[in-house]
Amino acid sequence: YCTASAGRERTLIAVKPDGVQRRLVGQIIQRFEQRGFKLVGLKMLKAPEDLLSQHYHNLQKKSFYPYLLCYMTSGPVVVMVWEGFNVVQTSRMMVGSTNPAEAQPGTVRGDFSIHVSRNVVHASDSVAGAEREIQLWFNGRELIDWDCCDHNIVC
Ligand code: PPS
Repeated sequence: YCTASAGRERTLIAVKPDGVQRRLVGQIIQRFEQRGFKLVGLKMLKAPEDLLSQHYHNLQKKSFYPYLLCYMTSGPVVVMVWEGFNVVQTSRMMVGSTNPAEAQPGTVRGDFSIHVSRNVVHASDSVAGAEREIQLWFNGRELIDWDCCDHNIVC
């Protein structure tokens, strides 16, 4: 069965510039669709620096921060909002460890990347973090509520 609240969790997934440049967008979307999650927002943009500094607000003092900013502005990103039961935690599993050297084969990073500085995707790390990030990247009108009557899919 599915209740309205059980299916409503949302997360932000971003294909980073290396993922776009390597033509991985389709394969990444396919994994989330195949799993049964519901796409409720999608756009491509060149991320402005002020948006990235808010997105990565807790990393500004890290030594790698300038490299992270340079990487994330090196080309467009594709940002998506996915919805479904336990989507935050399940997405983190599907994406794999932040450091690709530790990411299991079968995960996005474990299949497509080798170094943390080019790790292909971002996935929100908590429900609260997801809510914050979704508000940062999308306005309400860009998030689409839709229903399906295919009972193989958790709506
Ligand atoms: S930390 O230090 O534990 O807070 O950082 P961590 O959780 O491992 O990573 C936070 C995000 O920073 C990215 N990261 C890097 N980007 C570029 N270069 C280097 N060296 C680097 N190290 C970490 C990492 O991919 C995380 O980004 P997101 O977008 O959240 O995956």
